[in-house]
Amino acid sequence: MEKITIAIDGYSSTGKSTIAKQLAKALNYIYVDTGAMYRAVTLYAIRNGLINEDSNDEQGLIAALDTIELRFVYNNSLGFAEMYMNDENVEREIRSMAVSQLVSKVATIDAVRKKLVAIQQKLGQEKGIVMDGRDIGTVVFPGAELKIFMTASPEKRATRRYKELLDKGEDVNYAEVLKNVEYRDYIDSHREISPLIIADDAIVFDNSDMGLADQFSRILDFANRVIDKQKKDVQ
Ligand code: DC
Repeated sequence: MEKITIAIDGYSSTGKSTIAKQLAKALNYIYVDTGAMYRAVTLYAIRNGLINEDSNDEQGLIAALDTIELRFVYNNSLGFAEMYMNDENVEREIRSMAVSQLVSKVATIDAVRKKLVAIQQKLGQEKGIVMDGRDIGTVVFPGAELKIFMTASPEKRATRRYKELLDKGEDVNYAEVLKNVEYRDYIDSHREISPLIIADDAIVFDNSDMGLADQFSRILDFANRVIDKQKKDVQ
């Protein structure tokens, strides 16, 4: 069977990871959430006093990079891999508002991106992978056979994120979440290194008014078409 590489990029809170996880399961592919890796490095920086709202010890974080070991460990009951940092399961903590507010800053650091991109490329070297992030179709796997760029209005995305955080018991207000979504869009799209841009050969997928089941069946359909074409090409 011909396995392909699927890159899912797009703005924050567009539901990339939900779709990517379902897609990986349906195709029996590996799923990698690259945002989780940037979040884990951010958590490390917060815990070690290297970053806060007002200051940013970039050199300190770069010096510590070699001591941060990142690993995905598959959780059978959840059905996806969880993020481990230096042998600790940080899956929950990396989704907090504190990390969300600082992660874009950490993701602008060249040395951080280089380290994480190298790990991502290694994880995907055998293909059969669904990876979501911001630069997967442009930098990590420019040759990916299927590239989806997910987008939705900031208000829709903030509403989704707000509900998610409330469900987790976080103390948040909608205006703050919307501000965070818009702030991250701005930084993600304007940073110098690997900004969030649409790859020339990506399918732009606006899911503002689309339910999950509909999104999933359309994207699975895109994937199956590419996989079928690959099969025919090798015959
Ligand atoms: O997908 P997410 O919201 O968990 O991503 C968290 C942050 O990490 C986001 O603000 C942008 C950054 N990121 C990135 O720069 N490149 C990636 N491939 C994935 C995430």
